[in-house]
Amino acid sequence: MKNISICVGSSCHLKGSYKIIEMAKEFIANHNLEDKVTLGGAFCLGRCTDGVTIKIDDEIICGVCPENFQQIFEEKVLNA
Ligand code: FES
Repeated sequence: MKNISICVGSSCHLKGSYKIIEMAKEFIANHNLEDKVTLGGAFCLGRCTDGVTIKIDDEIICGVCPENFQQIFEEKVLNA
């Protein structure tokens, strides 16, 4: 089971973390990962200036945006 947390702290929120949550939900549904991945929100992960920040298991990934979302999730979630 992989744990994905998406920062919904104020800075990441302003940078569009809700959009990333929507994309993550869609990604999980499209790849039938419901049983393999948990998705949740996180409070500030301490990397506000580099948001949107997400955490996949113990790894913090910064600068997530709609443009690089697919690549990050394919690499870190699908192919991991
Ligand atoms: S608000 Fe997301 S890292 Fe601080």
